[in-house]
Amino acid sequence: MTYAYLFKYIIIGDTGVGKSCLLLQFTDKRFQPVHDLTIVLLGFFVAMLVGKAGQESFRSITRSYYRGAAGALLVYDITRRETFNHLTSWLEDARQHSSSNMVIMLIGNKSDLESRRDVKREEGEAFAREHGLIFMETSAKTACNVEEAFINTAKEIYRKIQQGLFDVHNEANGIKIGPQQSICTSVGPSASQRNSRDIGSNSGCC
Ligand code: GTP
Ligand code: MG
Repeated sequence: MTYAYLFKYIIIGDTGVGKSCLLLQFTDKRFQPVHDLTIVLLGFFVAMLVGKAGQESFRSITRSYYRGAAGALLVYDITRRETFNHLTSWLEDARQHSSSNMVIMLIGNKSDLESRRDVKREEGEAFAREHGLIFMETSAKTACNVEEAFINTAKEIYRKIQQGLFDVHNEANGIKIGPQQSICTSVGPSASQRNSRDIGSNSGCC
């Protein structure tokens, strides 16, 4: 596989908001209707095993989970307001443990369930504006905006690389330079063509 850069992403948010489904839709172009709870078994096990002293061990696992990610998808469910209310604490956690340049994309998922909507699009937009995030509504079920969410995050990471805000030689930043890439060369027409769509643009389906 040839690539210019590889970016590491993390996907965070309350249980059941659709993190696994978004990933599956992006990688496999399919939807999984049954909810298989994703559990970070190792972290859970360590926390159980060592009790209070383990809090530090557990935190260090959380930290290592965030560390080394260039981008984060912070997901809530537009049909469940509590998942929106918990965004602040997810964001605090992410900002505390990640590199300061990590790009965070706020995602209001399940946009296909318009009749059950509990959080207005404008509320998502306002939260994103207030906290300096990019924002999109998606549906892992219909695939609406799923690819765009991953790609727009990548574009923003790429923009930061061009601005010199990421140390691309340090893989701990979640960026790996591909075999074809010489970072000393200026950005030519092909790169600008690749980035012809504006950040935040969506497919218009939701
Ligand atoms: P945890 O692993 O427990 O943290 O949850 P998760 O965030 O990975 O959620 P998951 O992807 O398993 O999805 C939870 C449930 O929501 C599943 O039943 C999915 O089928 C459903 N779901 C996910 N995304 C969508 C969507 O865009 N639209 C609809 N209608 N349902 C969705
Ligand atoms: Mg999951």
